[in-house]
Amino acid sequence: MTVQSPLADPSIVHDPYPVYADLARREPVHWCAGLNAWAVMTYADCAAGLKDPRLKAERMEEVLAAKFSGQPLPPDSIYHRFTKNVMMYTDPPRHDVLRRSTHAGFTRAAHEHYSRVIRKAAADLVASVPAGACEIDAVPVLAAQLPVRSAVQAFGVPEEDLGFVIPCVETLMTYWSGPQEQPVSLEQLLALLTDLHTYAIELLHGKRGKVLPHTVIARLADAQGGLTETTPEQTVHQLVLLFIALFAPTTPGSLSSGMLAFARNPLQAERFLEDPACVDNTANEVVRHNASNQFTWRVATADVDMGGVRIAAGQNIALFLGAANRDPATFERPHDFDLDRPNSGRHLSFGLGVHSCLGRQIAALQLKWFYVALLDRFPAIRPAGEPLWNKNLEFRSLRSLPLSLR
Ligand code: HEM
Repeated sequence: MTVQSPLADPSIVHDPYPVYADLARREPVHWCAGLNAWAVMTYADCAAGLKDPRLKAERMEEVLAAKFSGQPLPPDSIYHRFTKNVMMYTDPPRHDVLRRSTHAGFTRAAHEHYSRVIRKAAADLVASVPAGACEIDAVPVLAAQLPVRSAVQAFGVPEEDLGFVIPCVETLMTYWSGPQEQPVSLEQLLALLTDLHTYAIELLHGKRGKVLPHTVIARLADAQGGLTETTPEQTVHQLVLLFIALFAPTTPGSLSSGMLAFARNPLQAERFLEDPACVDNTANEVVRHNASNQFTWRVATADVDMGGVRIAAGQNIALFLGAANRDPATFERPHDFDLDRPNSGRHLSFGLGVHSCLGRQIAALQLKWFYVALLDRFPAIRPAGEPLWNKNLEFRSLRSLPLSLR
């Protein structure tokens, strides 16, 4: 009889940490049948796994087989063309070439521009809360809004195209549904990927909405002519990956889990308001405390020993970043939200090594400027009811966060 892994139980999503801690003590590398993967629960093993070249990031063939067994796709399908040509699902040396091709959008000077733009977007958003408001649902009113405004103003997604791109990505993202059944059909998945590719091509050819100057997309489009290592088709694939990452629940998930942490810990809001060092550490501590991407995938290319278990070549591995971030061997009092924590920056929420998140600085800017604006205007936020979490352990985020503003 197969014993169900507790990780496959959707009722743990609102607070998976006791289950992680129990597994880390008993079975730090644990077989999860629902994921068809070894679940890795400690910081040391996750960090080592993210940097181990024997664990490949090229994994989407295995994900497809697990989700749609018996429905293989031809090698030239949009699924394979996309997943084999984006940085996230490829390994060096191809990965490095693909990642380098996006460099123009992510230079230091570009980030200085994004910082100014995001700061203003965050201030405008918080200022838009009506003067008399006492209670809000902070997910739709705030956390869901800033990533969209940043996508337009810093990334360059045309505002007039949001009505097409956002629903596309939201449906596509349900493919990444952790151990739960995923609702999207194979036909739907392929159609959505095709639509997003067509859109990206049209956008690069100036046939869709207006891309704002100095944004990520404008910089990538300008640099396109100088790319010698990659093909125009690969540029389109990276752009589609960026759309998915932009409208994924990760940034809203972090913005809202941080609000919850501040609302539950008034002393931390005070520390934020009195000490600039705490402001600088906030993005790191927020994403350490609750990773919005709780685990990421690798596939073993050789037999690997980890946590007392032999992982066989070809087996899937789920590296639990969210469990690593609460590992008491790395973080003292790991469940506390503590802006004075000296090593918050060691969190694994943005991955580690060659695949470390390309958008991490932009995400961190959103977090920083958002809490600066929020706590400046509403220094005494408190929970005003039970928060509601989604049911997706892989991309764990709040659906609703009732917040009292005074
Ligand atoms: C709080 C928000 C975010 C979180 C928690 C997050 C998390 C992650 C994680 C864990 C990885 C590594 C995955 C792996 O190693 O398998 C990653 C990679 C990546 N992220 Fe993010 N991400 C966030 C926001 C963004 C944004 C806004 C963008 C848009 C540019 C982005 C673009 C990417 C890309 C392109 C990669 C692949 C990098 C590579 O493979 O070289 N992310 N992200």
